[in-house]
Amino acid sequence: MATPLLVDTDPGIDDALALLAAWNSPEVVVEVVTTVAGNVTVEQATTNVCRLLALRKPDPAPVVAIGAPDPLARQLVTATRYHGADGLGDLDDWPAVGRGELAAAVPLILDRARRQQRLLTIVALGPMTNLALALKADPAAMKFVGRVVAMGGAVDVPGNVTPAAEFNMYVDPEAAHRVLAAGLSLDLVPLDATRQAVLPRAGLKKALSRAAGPLAARITAFSDRAFRIDHAGGAQGMVLHDPLAVALAIDPTLAQWEAVRLEIGPEGETRRARGDPNCRVAKAIDTARFLRMFLDRLCPPPRRRASS
Ligand code: RIB
Ligand code: CA
Repeated sequence: MATPLLVDTDPGIDDALALLAAWNSPEVVVEVVTTVAGNVTVEQATTNVCRLLALRKPDPAPVVAIGAPDPLARQLVTATRYHGADGLGDLDDWPAVGRGELAAAVPLILDRARRQQRLLTIVALGPMTNLALALKADPAAMKFVGRVVAMGGAVDVPGNVTPAAEFNMYVDPEAAHRVLAAGLSLDLVPLDATRQAVLPRAGLKKALSRAAGPLAARITAFSDRAFRIDHAGGAQGMVLHDPLAVALAIDPTLAQWEAVRLEIGPEGETRRARGDPNCRVAKAIDTARFLRMFLDRLCPPPRRRASS
């Protein structure tokens, strides 16, 4: 039976790639997508989820809910320099999308936690604001959740916003502190792991050429900006932060895990601390097996029209 996923996200180019791969993964079903402010505003993140749904048309379609517009206790800092002003590479030809009346994220997170309990995996791909608000509303319900897999942190490696802080933790350290203190079954996927998950542009191009069509063309277009910026930063390709988190939600054996106790510093630093572990941290990953899995799932061949 496929594991129900609730994906909390701030798309974001890598979030978009993560969602597309998740929607083509038979081990899981993305039943809910909740949006959070992070890479872009929560309004833009929600529009981007709707754009991706219109592009990919996953079956079943997830319930979409809009989440926190701001971090718990500080001004929102976005990542539009990397993801573009619209969060998806600033393409000028996205079809207009209707959103209709959207549910609120936190009640939906709690509803699923109460109803699905150990069956549910929550995958957090942005700042942990929605999770922290859900914990504040009903901590007991959140402790029922089978796994929380969160992309975030920099444990034994430098950060990507400050020398010691990774973006998702930097944007909302108060939320991260609450999540780490809640006693959840928390699997953290930090930069220590994600920086091993580098996708060469040629690798993406080769994989997409096997499934040429509108989806492949759109993936190429919106990911171009991320390749340019990551290459300029010295990487050999695009760093697949959020796709790795989704892959580890599907198959934890792709990584070696270390049980650690982390504390959150004032600017989102994730530092090792004394005491009982409060999470598992992904360390060494099987990069080749992850990239094969990701590229096999990212872009299914276009559906052929029935021959007349
Ligand atoms: O630091 C990388 C993380 O911050 C990723 O989730 C990326 O999408 C941004 O949200
Ligand atoms: Ca993200």
